[in-house]
Amino acid sequence: MDKFVIRGGKKLKGTVSVSGAKNASLALMPATLLNSGLNRIDNTPEVNDIFTMIKLLKQLGVESEFHNHSLLLNTSKITSQVAPYEHVKKMRASVYVLGPLLSRFGYAKVSMPGGCAWGPRPINLHLEAMKRLGAEISLEEGYIIARANKLKGAKIHFDIPSVGATGNALMAATLAKGTTLITNSAIEPEINQLCDYLNSMGARISGIGTTTLEIEGVDELFPKQIKNIPDRIEAGTLLIAAAITHSKISLANIEVQHLDSVLIKLEESGVKLLQENDCLVLDAENSSAKSIDVSTSVYPGFPTDMQAQWTAYMTLADSISTVTDTIYLDRFNHVPELNRLGANIELINNSAVIKGVKKLKGAKVMSTDLRASASLVLAGLAAEGTTEVLRIYHLDRGYQRIEEKLRALGADIERVATTEF
Ligand code: EPU
Repeated sequence: MDKFVIRGGKKLKGTVSVSGAKNASLALMPATLLNSGLNRIDNTPEVNDIFTMIKLLKQLGVESEFHNHSLLLNTSKITSQVAPYEHVKKMRASVYVLGPLLSRFGYAKVSMPGGCAWGPRPINLHLEAMKRLGAEISLEEGYIIARANKLKGAKIHFDIPSVGATGNALMAATLAKGTTLITNSAIEPEINQLCDYLNSMGARISGIGTTTLEIEGVDELFPKQIKNIPDRIEAGTLLIAAAITHSKISLANIEVQHLDSVLIKLEESGVKLLQENDCLVLDAENSSAKSIDVSTSVYPGFPTDMQAQWTAYMTLADSISTVTDTIYLDRFNHVPELNRLGANIELINNSAVIKGVKKLKGAKVMSTDLRASASLVLAGLAAEGTTEVLRIYHLDRGYQRIEEKLRALGADIERVATTEF
């Protein structure tokens, strides 16, 4: 077990490169199950969720090699269509194997994910989509059993534009017989990239980037190589690290348009943003943070995956702000921990009402999930004295050695082995 020890108050300076997008890779990897052969996904981040997905794919018979962010996946010898509980309970994105396995092999057995750290996260929309495509779904001993001789194109409408359900439905529809129309689909960059990857394999998806996707089923898909997009959430987290410490940093390997909603809010809060060469520069050296409200929504709205980090930033802003999460109503485990550092946050239903304080003071705090952990690290960077962030295995699921990136920028942060839990 590791913890972070952060001695706060240091200014950050320099350039750091953003890693590949975790959530995009987690969709691209199972998509390779739709073909037979050697696929390559470049710019894959070295984070624990990716290692969990590699293990799950191995369980299905996929051979892999992972060097220098280049992930090779050989899908020519699939031996199982079962995603066991031990993998799914660790990572809900495991459910992404359902659509591809069902579509290519006519059968998939996937453990039901349970609740998650911040409440229920149902998968009803994934299952409804599979049923619409003609699958028979049953639940046995905690497993979803999905069967179909051959999936058939259908109209699928999502009441909520779910990222995961859109991805699963898309993958399933590529090898279905006939045409599928998905309406109210998610349009996150990770979904657009998945569509592009599937099309490069031979799929026929149109409407990419819009909320209506049309998929003309094909008989076969072929192995391909792709370079993964940069991680917009890691980028946003690093930008807030600079903003909260009144620093100036530069981010390389970033897709600025994927972050528009966050960048607009950052500018409103008083920081300067400019593009220099291929980098995005954030300059907060002479600014004091203004309190700015945010409300999360689906892309291109403010991402729920940046909500905790924004909350941390607002703890030191000049007046009162409200941060509302409309995607995950209970995703506020970071609030009591931030208050332990001296923040003044009151939780009212799905909103954090944050009264800016003059300073935060270091303390021991505990990670409870990936983005909550990130918010505690950000607060620790700005707090006076020493902050210890325990249970950082949550953070390691989705940030590639963030302490090394922050240290390279001048932060005083170290990873320390501990028996504390
Ligand atoms: N929902 C349903 N039924 C479903 C699926 C979703 O009601 O069958 C609801 C959810 O409860 C939620 C909303 O729909 O209220 C959106 O959930 P979505 O399905 O879009 O989320 P997801 O696909 O499970 C992905 C990311 C999450 C991110 C959300 C929202 C991956 C692997 N995960 O999850 O990332 O928060 O989209 O943008 O792509 C993270 O990286 O920290 C993370 C949690």
